[in-house]
Parts: sequence; C-alpha cells; structure tokens
Amino acid sequence: MKLILLGAPGAGKGTQATRISDKYNLPHISTGDILRKNIKEGTKLGVQAKSFIDAGQLVPDEVVINIVNDRLQQADCNNGYILDGFPRTVAQAEALDKVAKIDAVINIAVDASLIVNRITGRRMCACGESYHISMGIGDTCPKCGAKLYQRDDDKEETVKARMQVYDTQTAPLIDYYTAKNLVIDVDGGKPLNEVFEQISKVIDDYNKK
Ligand code: AP5
Repeated sequence: MKLILLGAPGAGKGTQATRISDKYNLPHISTGDILRKNIKEGTKLGVQAKSFIDAGQLVPDEVVINIVNDRLQQADCNNGYILDGFPRTVAQAEALDKVAKIDAVINIAVDASLIVNRITGRRMCACGESYHISMGIGDTCPKCGAKLYQRDDDKEETVKARMQVYDTQTAPLIDYYTAKNLVIDVDGGKPLNEVFEQISKVIDDYNKK
C-alpha cells in the first residue's frame, strides 16, 4: 500500500508512521528525518536545508522532490511505503503523481490549540523514537538509554511559523487529494492508541479489497 500521512506540525504523523511501519512492514519515509540526518552529518544538502528548517520554512521543492524520487527507487519500496511530511506543496504532489500511484491519503486532523503544547513538549532520541514530556519520561530514552534532546525547530516562535506555512502551502493538498477521492480523515486529537486503531482500520479495509 502506498500511503501518505497528511497533517499539521505535531499532528502525530511521525508517531503513527513508526507504528504503521512496524505493524504492516512498510518503509517509513520522512523527509524531515532525512533532512535532519543530513544536517547532523554536515552534508551539502544538510547545510542547504538548515536555514530553511530553523526558520520554520519549507526546503525548496526541487530539493525534496529529488530526495523522494531517489528513495522511492530503492527495492524496499516495491511493495508500498508510508510518506510522512511529503508532499507538502501542490508542486510536490504533482511531481509525486509522475512517479507513483498513491492508494490513500490519511489526513490526521488536530485542533490548532493542541499543537504548540505537543511540539514544545516533544523530546527526541537519536534512535528515532520521539516522546512527549507528559509521558513522564526522564532525560534518557526508555528504549535505548541515549540522552533525549529537543529539535531546534520545536521552539514556540518557530512552531508558529511552521503552522502558518502549513495553512498556506500544505493544507491545500486536502482539496487536491479529495478531488482524487483519496482522503480519509482521522481524528488526531484522540489518544495515540485510538488514532492508531483508526489508521489500522483504514489499512485493514484496503488489504481486504
Ligand atoms: P517534519 O519533520 O516533517 O515536521 P512536521 O511536519 O512539522 O511534523 P512534526 O515532525 O513536527 O510532527 P508530527 O506530525 O510528525 O508529530 P509527532 O508524531 O512527532 O519537517 C520539519 C521541517 O523539515 C519542515 O518545517 C521543513 O522545513 C522541512 N521539510 C520536511 N519535509 C519537507 C518537504 N516535503 N518540503 C519542504 N520542506 C520539508 O508528534 C508530536 C508530539 O505530539 C510528540 O511529542 C508526540 O509524542 C505527541 N503526540 C503525537 N500524537 C499524539 C496524540 N494522539 N495524543 C497526544 N500526544 C501525541
């Protein structure tokens, strides 16, 4: 199944994509994770992307389109994948249409009032796990023991810029994919497990077809 997870910053795309990937054995492709890995490794791409990410702005379309086109050619994508954070503009969606036939777009809808708290309370681990301080975690990752950290773009001022970018550039994709009859709305304001149940049902129904 070729799945897109749409949703505002902090909607829970990454959290849910990790779970879907584990349960259904689908590769989780997060453009945000790929860009952050490049920043950490100091690659040319990372240097180019950092100023955009730190300002809460989108990295230029051609850069992320190339990243995703390369990634989708890898063998593990032959039986499907989960796209998290891509596409984010109509130009990216049009580029994706040229290389893939998407089966469903899950729109994780969350009230804007929840978002700042979710993001500013997020703590990350180098192993890929992410947590929220409300989970009662300490300074280290419960899974691997490494020190947790906060993403540079998770400060409140940057979150507001990211939300504005979402409203103007990414939210129009809901109409774009609704016109193709692909959008399924999920209530992302519910607890993690309930959101995951809603998404699992969508995938199970698809697999029964
Ligand atoms: P990216 O990494 O994609 O960030 P984002 O879309 O802003 O999304 P987040 O990772 O902040 O949120 P999420 O929806 O994954 O939420 P999460 O599951 O972590 O992109 C970062 C930047 O990279 C962009 O700003 C841009 O600059 C650049 N970029 C990336 N892709 C690009 C593209 N295609 N084009 C151009 N530029 C691009 O959850 C958040 C928190 O909430 C966590 O603490 C979690 O524990 C908690 N939580 C999750 N679900 C629930 C729940 N149901 N109940 C309670 N708490 C919850």
